[in-house]
Amino acid sequence: MSEEWIKIKDILDGKKTGEEVRVRGWIYRKRSSGGIIFVLIRDVTGVVQATVRKGNVPDEDFTKADKALVESSIKVYGKVKEDKRAPGGYEIEVNKFEVVNFAEPFPITEDHSEEFLLDVRHLWLRSRKLTEVMKLKAKILRLIREWFDQNDFYEVTPSVITMNAAEGGATVFSFDYFGQKAFLSQTAQMYLEALIFSLERVWSLTPSFRAEKSRTRKHLTEYWHLEAEEAWVDNEGNMKIQEELISYVCQNIVKVAKDELEYLGRDTEKLKVVEPPFKRIKYEKAIEILRDKGFDIEWGDDFGAPHERALVEGEDKPIFVTHFPVEAKAFYMKISPDGKTVECADMLAPEGYGEIIGGSERSEDIDSMIARLKADGAKIENYEWYFDLRRYGSVPHSGFGLGLERLVTWIAKLDHIRDATPFPRTINRAYP
Ligand code: 4AD
Ligand code: MG
Repeated sequence: MSEEWIKIKDILDGKKTGEEVRVRGWIYRKRSSGGIIFVLIRDVTGVVQATVRKGNVPDEDFTKADKALVESSIKVYGKVKEDKRAPGGYEIEVNKFEVVNFAEPFPITEDHSEEFLLDVRHLWLRSRKLTEVMKLKAKILRLIREWFDQNDFYEVTPSVITMNAAEGGATVFSFDYFGQKAFLSQTAQMYLEALIFSLERVWSLTPSFRAEKSRTRKHLTEYWHLEAEEAWVDNEGNMKIQEELISYVCQNIVKVAKDELEYLGRDTEKLKVVEPPFKRIKYEKAIEILRDKGFDIEWGDDFGAPHERALVEGEDKPIFVTHFPVEAKAFYMKISPDGKTVECADMLAPEGYGEIIGGSERSEDIDSMIARLKADGAKIENYEWYFDLRRYGSVPHSGFGLGLERLVTWIAKLDHIRDATPFPRTINRAYP
């Protein structure tokens, strides 16, 4: 008998047929009929049937198999056979059955409300769907790292405790930091900006926090924020970097995550077509398009989900909406020569998924930034260090922030962002 623990996928791929194997995992489902117990066992790679027959295993093993409830952790030993009737087409003819831990009756049985499944999220993470999403997310991250490595970006580790509410006071979580008011970071951008003066091209992955009071399918209060910042790059160059990165992820994820995407029922043709260039439309034009489609929207208004959906209608790739009005965007964005708009771009995903990236060229004009910060009621002295970056060898630079869970939601074609993260934080939930 082989001494190693076999992964279930190797059995399902037909690589172990006729061999004696040992498999460890958890009981996914169970049923018995006469002297036979059919145990579906799952590991990280899949689910296979283990057939326990009275007489084929020691009597005490049979009793254990009979007693063990769903989610008990087990080890099974036996011979792999092809069997068309078994789910997946293979089964293990068990000759030894061990129970590592007898599970108590598992609280998740059949259909449950979303709220209940969120209450037992720590257990629901074992579901096939969430398992496949988590694997997919890890693979997306791997591709993102690969792309940044190949394109001369350094990964850096900025702080998450900050005195700066760079994305505006309305959605910042504040807390008492030894007698001073501090915030949970909404963005690592300002720290990344400081780092480009030595490293030139940097990126980071940090949790970002937004005190979002709205309950939507695309907002979390805590999400993983992937941000990049580049010296000597303007808004157009920034968009090129983003479209290359997103295309790289889409082109390759269909190759490295075939099983996950298939399980999730994702039409991968929709991802294969994602390649540069992405269409760029100016905010002004976007407003025109929306008004033509019957929306009651005016210059200065920000887009909501229905607007974003309407803008990507008929598009098979993400698009950029550029040059938003100054007053609609953050204080750090560079004002365009027209004086009314900023050098920014939001990337909107197709299939109605909305904004996945926000980026811009950064302002180098301290006075204009101060005026815009004051309008938001910010404490200017907390931004002095940031203005130093403009005082000592400033250069044109740009950057962007990608909501990792938004990207996963789109790539996996999920209904709700909460399934793109193991422990979703929303306005009414921080448990478990
Ligand atoms: O557009 P945002 O607010 O931009 C910034 O924070 C910039 N400082 C980033 C930068 O230039 N370095 O956020 C960036 C992205 C959004 O496009 C969206 O994908 C995601 O972060 N995001 C959220 N994801 C989940 N839940 C939320 N509440 C989110 N808010 C923003
Ligand atoms: Mg944004």
